[in-house]
Parts: sequence; C-alpha cells; structure tokens
Amino acid sequence: MASKILIIGAGGQIGSELTAALRAKHGVSNVITSDINDQNQEMVQSGPFEVVDAKDYDAIKACIDKYDIDTVYLMAALLSARGEKYPEKAWNLNTESLFHVLNLAKAGVIKQIFWPSSIAVFGPSTPKTNTPQHTVCEPTTVYGITKQVGERWCQYYHDQYGVDVRSIRYPGIISHKTMPGGGTTDYAVEIYHKAITERAYTSFLSEDTMLPMMFMDDAIKATIQIMEAPAASIKERSSYNLAALSFNPKDIYESIKKHIPDFKISYAPDFRQSIADSWPSSIDDSVAREDWAWQHDYDLEATTEEMLKHLSLKYGVEVV
Ligand code: SER
Repeated sequence: MASKILIIGAGGQIGSELTAALRAKHGVSNVITSDINDQNQEMVQSGPFEVVDAKDYDAIKACIDKYDIDTVYLMAALLSARGEKYPEKAWNLNTESLFHVLNLAKAGVIKQIFWPSSIAVFGPSTPKTNTPQHTVCEPTTVYGITKQVGERWCQYYHDQYGVDVRSIRYPGIISHKTMPGGGTTDYAVEIYHKAITERAYTSFLSEDTMLPMMFMDDAIKATIQIMEAPAASIKERSSYNLAALSFNPKDIYESIKKHIPDFKISYAPDFRQSIADSWPSSIDDSVAREDWAWQHDYDLEATTEEMLKHLSLKYGVEVV
C-alpha cells in the first residue's frame, strides 16, 4: 500500500518545497498538506489540504484518521529570532506539536515521523568549528532549547517505545520559493532578493559572521533520503548533524557581486547578532555521511547561480 503522508506546517519555507518533492514522488493525493490557516491559496488549491493547528492533538488525529496517514513530517515551528520575542509561544508550539506526533506513533496510529532539529541546539560552549555530532549542547535561545529538548524526547520515544522518528539538524536554508520567517539565517535569503530588486542590502549580521548553510534542494534531498534509509542505518535517534557550506555575509556578497557588479552591502547588526554568535561556524556531518550516505550537491557559487536565476525570473529583472 502506498504511504500516506501528512505535512504539518506545509506552507513554510521548507514545507512548501518538501510538499512538491514528496508529491512528485508519491502522487498528489498521497501527500496531505496542513497549516494553521488557509491563507496560502496556492497550497490549498494544489491538492488535499486541511487547516490544522499543530498544538491541537485532536485536529492532528482527525486529519490522520480521515486520510489514513502513516507518515508525518512535522515542519511547524517558531524559529530563533521570533522565539526570542515570543518565548512561551515558541515553547508551546515547538514542544506540544512534537509530543502529539510522538504519542500518535507510540499508540501505533502512525508509523514514521520526520522532525527537524537545528544548529540552534548548540551554544557558546560548543566547539565552534567542525562541531561534532556528539558535543556540548547548551543553547541560549528559546528555539534552541525547544530543539534540544525535542531531540531528547525523540531519542526517548525511540528507545522506550520503538518509535521510528528521524531528524536532521538543519543549518540555515537558502531558497527562492517561500520566504523564511523569524530566523537568524534569513539574511542569506533576503540578500538575494534585495540584490535583484534594490542592488543594495543592509545585513543584520556583521560581515565576518560565519554560519553553516545549505541550498534548499540539498535540504530536501537529505530529508527524503533519511526517511527512506533502512531503519538499521539510522543509528542516531536524537538528530543528525548535516552540513553543506559555511560562509559569512561578506562571502555571499562577493559571490553575488560576480553577477551583479554594482551590488552594495552595508552592515547594521541587531539582536540577531548575538544569536548567530552563539552558534557554530561549521559542522562535522561525517556521521550522516557514514550512516545513510548523505552528500551535498551545492556549493556557494552554485547556490548563488540558482538563486539569481530563479529570482530574476520572478521579479522580471535581468542579471548579468
Ligand atoms: N534557520 C534557523 C534560524 O535561523 C536555524 O535553524 O532560526
């Protein structure tokens, strides 16, 4: 029987592209999307969709029963910068939603869960370069705390109840389809939009703030790959380090400038600077590469080419 998938938080930056990839693979009717509201009409019109508040167990359960779902991708979350503004909201959404799906798997209602973790599980006491899979995790953001505690619960539900939950610590994700919202790595998406529309960008992180990043196609590839890997090869049941590239605002500026020579950048670090400063600058993902053969395809130059190609079409502006 074909797998029936529910994506919770499908309207977000990653969810929207995951939806397209999973539908191409499994068929539109086998991938049900859901979000907190039906504002994203493109998503609502494109296939089965339900309004589901990820904090509402009964709403999730009703949707799972209605479509006979066996696999859930829980993509709803409040990210790092927004989480600092709304700590309780971030805690409630990020942890309650995870508990609901873990409990549904524990009860045998669903068979498999994907739950994203983040580089935000790390903190200032973590080794900053080539951060290992197993290391000190003392996050200083609410978002990081929710992800760290979530990782512990994933491991616990796997060990105690045999729940098949799989997870990746995403770095900053760069994409052109849906804007990210409320994250610290969002600058690396905004910069491409502004390069095209205004030929100028003011970065909210300083020029030398190096962070781990990844092009969306690699993130989607990793997500599908970890879910399809044989259970025996998934040895980390908390979450896997995942990496592709690391760069700072100056590096990304220079890579864009090769295509848009009159592009200008200025720097005005705000509260997000201290969040970025608490995170690693590069990640050692050798365990993911070993366990389930993860490999990335896009470096910074390839990412810039893809971003400028798609965004110049979107805005109808020619780029050299
Ligand atoms: N992209 C996220 C953020 O900036 C990190 O996982 O909050």
